[in-house]
Amino acid sequence: MKYTEAIEKRRTFGIISHPDAGKTTLTEKLLLFGGAIQTAGAVKNNKIKKTATSDFMEIEKQRGISVATSVMAFAYNNRQINILDTPGHKDFAEDTFRTLTAVDSVILVIDCANGVEEQTKKLMEVCRMRKTPVIIFINKMDRDGKESFELLDELEKALDIKVRPLTWPIGMGDRFQGVYNIYQKGLNLFSANKTKIADDVVRISDIYDNQLDEIIGINPSLELREELEMIEGVYNPFDREDYLRGDVAPVFFGSAVNNFGVKELLDTFCEISPSPRGRDTDTKRVEPEDPKFSGFVFKIHANLDPKHRDRIAFLRIVSGKFERNKFYHHVRLSKDMKFPNPTSFMAQDKSVIDEAFPGDVVGLYDTGNFKIGDTMTEGEKMMYKGIPSFSPEIFMELENLDPLKSKQLEKGIRQLIDEGVAQLFIQQPGNRKIVGTVGQLQFEVINYRLIHEYGANCRFSPRNYFKACWITANDDEKLFQFKRAKSNYIAEDKDGNLVFLAETTFLLQMAEKDYPDLTFHRTSDFMLESK
Ligand code: G4P
Repeated sequence: MKYTEAIEKRRTFGIISHPDAGKTTLTEKLLLFGGAIQTAGAVKNNKIKKTATSDFMEIEKQRGISVATSVMAFAYNNRQINILDTPGHKDFAEDTFRTLTAVDSVILVIDCANGVEEQTKKLMEVCRMRKTPVIIFINKMDRDGKESFELLDELEKALDIKVRPLTWPIGMGDRFQGVYNIYQKGLNLFSANKTKIADDVVRISDIYDNQLDEIIGINPSLELREELEMIEGVYNPFDREDYLRGDVAPVFFGSAVNNFGVKELLDTFCEISPSPRGRDTDTKRVEPEDPKFSGFVFKIHANLDPKHRDRIAFLRIVSGKFERNKFYHHVRLSKDMKFPNPTSFMAQDKSVIDEAFPGDVVGLYDTGNFKIGDTMTEGEKMMYKGIPSFSPEIFMELENLDPLKSKQLEKGIRQLIDEGVAQLFIQQPGNRKIVGTVGQLQFEVINYRLIHEYGANCRFSPRNYFKACWITANDDEKLFQFKRAKSNYIAEDKDGNLVFLAETTFLLQMAEKDYPDLTFHRTSDFMLESK
């Protein structure tokens, strides 16, 4: 009983946004509500500032902050909430994608003036692929932005999801007076307050009540009533099941920096968001209620101090109870391991824990045993699916400048790939190493670490590829023909899967046209089905 209660209480989610929309600010306000921090400004902004691109140590320092804030746990309204942080910088998008495999739902923050931005679309694509339930928070309503209905239309079109407003703004910018809570039928008036939690909700059960005119003025009331009628006419009533299936995204309006509309968001989140969900393995689906412990590693963070080569592996618990000092089975290595110091994260504080439940994330100190995607169990031989790789966007060949250091280079690059810093494609002849990333920053990180941590002597030279596509084929003969015709563009990923390195969109389209029996996958997610 106690065990199922512990599961039912947990809510594990991620906040995602295009940089600058207000993710950090919203996270901080949620922690304030949860009592995990006492004052605003306590959570460091883990954004990597643009000016830092040429200063590696600065990047790592800023990245380092994200270790402390990787998982933020707090209790609120009888819920145990775990926020999994995602890096805002687009060059670390791959990190974010992987973290999304460890959450059960997502809050997407949108800037009301900018609407849907490039990064928002990519992140939503990943959510849609995994059918992750999404709540949208439209932020910065204290500034003039796009008209609210226009924003909702834009969200539906650009993100390919149905939306349903659950709060509605009264005015915007200078005229912003507050939000009407459609879901709970209450009025929350705006009073800019950056550090305290305001809780002065006026309950109005009938929007035609004259009290509304007195409080917000006659014209704004007329406008609000009209808009609310329109909402009821245009949007279907909110259905939690639609949200849980990832078909409809409830929308909230507010101003994170002013702490406004955040409580409505958090209260409703606690009510409607999913408790920990099961996950598929290569042999079966595992539900959280399954008493046997299991979980998977979705993130590895290296120690910033080169003298200590240890790392922290972040493990999401899927089923059963995790206990300190108990032996668990590392499936890939077929090895039993125990963990004397598993860590949990409370806002900025880390502490050693004795037990953890499905939905929780524990930090495991690692000396090189873990790779992203590894599964731990109580002995069962199964692997969790679904830590996909996405086609990188920038490719460089890693060249060894000192043949005497090739062992160091080999070891270093393999370990960095295990951490998920980049993807590696091996080309024949000559075992050439093509490293692919989504951003330029990673190459600085890799180069620096290979030289300073592993003593390698290397350099990167640009390769003019546009996409790496994983290939599957129905017809082995056709695959053989393709490999022969395109041998200069064929490589294998770190797990030996066949990859086509396309130089242009045109060449990729030509390949698709000329070889209809082959499928070119933009993400490695296809392996989920084929396993
Ligand atoms: P991010 O993590 O999504 O990148 O965004 P972050 O929270 O850092 O917010 C980006 C900027 O937007 C910050 O200003 C922040 O104060 C501001 N902001 C967040 N919420 C609101 C809001 O509701 N209204 C308004 N007007 N601004 C908001 P900054 O100048 O970049 O940083 P700071 O010096 O204020 O910290």
